[in-house]
Amino acid sequence: MTDQSAVTTLYARLGGYDAFAALNEELFPRLIADPEIGRFWKNRSADSIRREKQLALEFNTVVTGGPSYYIGRDLATTHRGMGITARDWEVFLGHLIALFDQFSVPEPERSEMLAIIENTRTEIVDR
Ligand code: HEM
Repeated sequence: MTDQSAVTTLYARLGGYDAFAALNEELFPRLIADPEIGRFWKNRSADSIRREKQLALEFNTVVTGGPSYYIGRDLATTHRGMGITARDWEVFLGHLIALFDQFSVPEPERSEMLAIIENTRTEIVDR
């Protein structure tokens, strides 16, 4: 069998738009309800959260080779000043990994996606 990882984008191998959107829909309520990191979304309007969710979806589409154009701000500018800590980052990753389990995201796609997210860490974590 051909090694699909050599010929197909990570975006396609993960299931494309519907799969990304479905995971994104589950991720945000988890983050918002979290006792530790939910504070970052406290008192934000539903529309602001909807907008952020859409931008995150576009960002993840683009960085995995999918057909979109990211029109949001760069991640450092977006998150600078929020005071996101290394602990906050671990909690965030915990939710992401739990959803990877829930959606049965296989290897090597799971590790490839986590590596991409890990690369954004220095732009997001303040201290
Ligand atoms: C602990 C981890 C994170 C926290 C607490 C967090 C929190 C937030 C918050 C509160 C906003 C809204 C900012 C605003 O509207 O002014 C935001 C925006 C955003 N975040 Fe995060 N974030 C985290 C990780 C990530 C990661 C890992 C990514 C992508 C891989 C990401 C992508 C985005 C994008 C694309 C936006 C919208 C940018 C824009 O408004 O132009 N975030 N984040």
